[in-house]
Amino acid sequence: MAAVLIVLLLHFTFLPSTALAAFSPAFSYYLACGASSNVSFPRDSQARSFVPDAPFLSSVAGVSAVTSSNSNPASPLYAAARAAGSEFSYRFADPGSAAPNEFRVLRLHFFPFTTAQSPGPVSLSTALFSVSLLDAYPILSNFSPPSAGVIKEYFVPAGGSGEFRIKFTPDAGSTAFVNAIELFAAPPELLWKFSVTPVDAVDSGDMNLWAQKTLETVYRLNVGGSKVPMENDTLWRTWLPDDPYIYGPDGISVVNSTTAPIIYNPSIGYTREVAPDIVYKTQRAMNFTGVPTGATPGPFNLTWTFPAERGSDYLLRLHWCDYSLVSSVSQAGTVFNVYIAQSIATRDLDLTKTAKQSNEATYRDYAAKAPITGNLTVTIGTSDKSGSGEGGILNGLEIMKVTSGNLISARSPGRTKKILIATLSAVLGAAVLACAVLCFFVMQRRRRQVPRPAPEEKQSTQPPWSLHTQDGSSWVDMSNPSGVVGTSGGMHRVTTQLHIALSEITTATDNFHERNLIGVGGFGNVYRGVLRDGTPVAVKRANRASKQGLPEFQTEIVVLSRIRHRHLVSLIGYCNEHSEMILVYEYMSKGTLRSHLYGSEEPPLSWKQRLEICVGAARGLHYLHTGYSENIIHRDVKSTNILLGDGFIAKVADFGLSRIGPSFGETHVSTAVKGSFGYLDPEYFKTQQLTDRSDVYSFGVVLYEMLCARPVIDQSLDRDQINLAEWALNMQKKGQLDKITDPRIAGQVNGNSLRKFAETAEKCLAEYGLDRPSMGDVLWNLEYCLQLQETHVSRDAFEDSGAVATQFPADVVVPRWEPSSTSFLMDDSDEMGIGNSMALSQLSGGEGR
Ligand SMILES: *[C@@H]1O[C@H](CO)[C@@H](O)[C@H](O)[C@H]1NC(C)=O
Ligand SMILES: *[C@@H]1O[C@H](CO)[C@@H](O)[C@H](O)[C@H]1NC(C)=O
Ligand SMILES: *[C@@H]1O[C@H](CO)[C@@H](O)[C@H](O)[C@H]1NC(C)=O
Ligand SMILES: *[C@@H]1O[C@H](CO)[C@@H](O)[C@H](O)[C@H]1NC(C)=O
Ligand SMILES: *[C@@H]1O[C@H](CO)[C@@H](O)[C@H](O)[C@H]1NC(C)=O
Ligand SMILES: *[C@@H]1O[C@H](CO)[C@@H](O)[C@H](O)[C@H]1NC(C)=O
Repeated sequence: MAAVLIVLLLHFTFLPSTALAAFSPAFSYYLACGASSNVSFPRDSQARSFVPDAPFLSSVAGVSAVTSSNSNPASPLYAAARAAGSEFSYRFADPGSAAPNEFRVLRLHFFPFTTAQSPGPVSLSTALFSVSLLDAYPILSNFSPPSAGVIKEYFVPAGGSGEFRIKFTPDAGSTAFVNAIELFAAPPELLWKFSVTPVDAVDSGDMNLWAQKTLETVYRLNVGGSKVPMENDTLWRTWLPDDPYIYGPDGISVVNSTTAPIIYNPSIGYTREVAPDIVYKTQRAMNFTGVPTGATPGPFNLTWTFPAERGSDYLLRLHWCDYSLVSSVSQAGTVFNVYIAQSIATRDLDLTKTAKQSNEATYRDYAAKAPITGNLTVTIGTSDKSGSGEGGILNGLEIMKVTSGNLISARSPGRTKKILIATLSAVLGAAVLACAVLCFFVMQRRRRQVPRPAPEEKQSTQPPWSLHTQDGSSWVDMSNPSGVVGTSGGMHRVTTQLHIALSEITTATDNFHERNLIGVGGFGNVYRGVLRDGTPVAVKRANRASKQGLPEFQTEIVVLSRIRHRHLVSLIGYCNEHSEMILVYEYMSKGTLRSHLYGSEEPPLSWKQRLEICVGAARGLHYLHTGYSENIIHRDVKSTNILLGDGFIAKVADFGLSRIGPSFGETHVSTAVKGSFGYLDPEYFKTQQLTDRSDVYSFGVVLYEMLCARPVIDQSLDRDQINLAEWALNMQKKGQLDKITDPRIAGQVNGNSLRKFAETAEKCLAEYGLDRPSMGDVLWNLEYCLQLQETHVSRDAFEDSGAVATQFPADVVVPRWEPSSTSFLMDDSDEMGIGNSMALSQLSGGEGR
């Protein structure tokens, strides 16, 4: 990366404070490390003062403030540094947030000057060190700042930990240092606001995972323009010119600019904080001069190429602003192709789809993998639909590297400010743990020196240990620790925003009127309702009589309040007024999966629908197992806990029994056996040791339920048929799949799809957890089944003969997947066809054995 050394104070041009609407972060820290007094930047778009760092250091022992021997440093920030030959760290109070997509911007300034400190001049240029966040998560290792200096910028997901720590660890015999630290809350619209378009080789499988990771900015370019210094950017970013990265001969491109104001549409998240006006005011396009007017220029590409870490994941943001949206030849705005890493990223990109007028700012995010063969490239090029002399434009480009670890997993529950202790009493029965947690807390709280109270704390009037209650009674009372037998980790607080007033719920359900009753269970009833704002909801109301459901309710709130996924039912709120225990969920219009399989008047689901439902549910479970740092185990996977919404989209529900899986280094957690008969993992039953493979077992039973459309336990049947799992496995071994397949779909099932499906189910039901596939593998195989069904491709042609693409039988439809240009701005980041691409790779790679 070109050194992003920001030479401050070069521009003494007058910058009226009103020139840029000031962005004021929710909280911020600007430290001038090693400085003894404030370092101010009145010319920044919003004036900032960098304060001395000493109050934020965890310990000052062995850490010295060093000063530069240069009396005229490039920036007053680089006149001093904090340096040490041993580990040192900074702590910041961070109000935290349970809101998804909330990020911290972290900038670390490294300017390795020579210091006149005794004995003799010392140079920081030999420094070699690592930097980690929250004591665990590395962002830099074996790092030696370039002599020209560098500013490292990261976007760190906000957790609810209450504290942000940065640790500097020198390599043996070396020194660690830092000149300045910026830490502030990113504006909410900055990241993951719109769905990300995955490009070709991206195999992350789930953008939800990416959104939990720290991003490091590696390139930020003002395409077609000059450098934008930090004082001209509301987030104090630096944008560099793109010239050095253009591929091909000089004259291949032309720049254009506008003097007219840039139009932002903040109502949908396009603000100056995304990129400043200056970036949108210049652009680069292909140089079509030399092509005779009227003649169609041949296909044309304009490419930028960037050294990148081979095989790593990158998030790319392309900024556009069309200066003549309607006057272009095609009368529809500029239409062009976008390629990233030599693969098509968007075909026929039409800027009019997002920008409604000339000079309107817009951008699009792509997820890509740097090729192992060379540089990461970004290309714009003519498409079949481009007008004459049109080949696309680019105004700005940001490339962020997705770091490999999951930051949230680095956050320890002990640092959580307002931890929610959920009682999993029936589950753990370990009061010891509670005491340990309690002690840990007390110690943490004693040890902690919070430099500044977090804003949220001041507003909070609730006792820190209880769920929010209206009538003052709390669900979880720490004065009675024996009642608390587990912690769910509590990394995200349950925000009071989730609380819904009882009056609103009674109105929504017409005072729990019987005609709104949609479900009855051991815990209580489920009602349909409509909230004041028109949101249809399902209201789960616990039996007042039974207090037994309390832990389940709390678990459900804890789990659901911190995870969101397209294939997990969302919790809209809860209510615990007047000893009610009520949970409010998004309404799933089509009810339970089981009701569509048997025992009701519902028309049968087609095989394809069943596969799609399986894929959806598998995605939800896969996310539970891996997407959230603590790998949550559902423990009660069954066809009544898979709900169907509009369009039969499947979502996993009922997290009451779920619990946090084994943490790193452990293989299982021991718990009293819970679950439902017919679905229960026999290994778990015998050993009481729970792993995510117990969910895989239960899901395997659901797969057979889908295939056979009969109850998992049916006492009315012959002895050997009572248990679905046993019976189906037996029949399958005997090669009698046709005898167990739901006769209503028998005619429409593709044989290969069916066999692959049954194989998958069988693997899920392996006796030992270790022999079962992961949920990710199950998902992969189900996607493949769906492909087989949709395309009628002969599985054997690929899997068993190792045939390659050129040997396809003539009648075979080769499944193709390309990023859909219609996913632009559609808010369903989960459905981006990644699964399809996985299935495709299985098809073409013949890896499905
Ligand atoms: C230093 O800056 C901080 C934050 O802007 C301000 O509160 C403080 O008063 C300043 N101190 C001095 C000595 O100017
Ligand atoms: C920064 O902003 C000021 C005021 O708008 C402007 O005069 C100056 O040219 C800008 N600098 C750059 C490099 O864009
Ligand atoms: C990689 O990118 C750099 C910078 O744009 C360029 O100088 C170099 O030639 C590129 N390498 C290849 C193999 O394209
Ligand atoms: C565009 O291409 C023409 C002909 O190849 C060349 O003369 C001209 O200098 C190029 N324009 C720019 C801005 O490089
Ligand atoms: C620059 O943009 C304006 C407005 O769209 C357009 O009329 C003009 O032809 C463009 N110039 C170049 C060199 O592309
Ligand atoms: C443009 O680049 C893409 C990706 O590298 C490539 O597939 C395409 O053939 C190129 N088009 C032309 C006209 O060079």
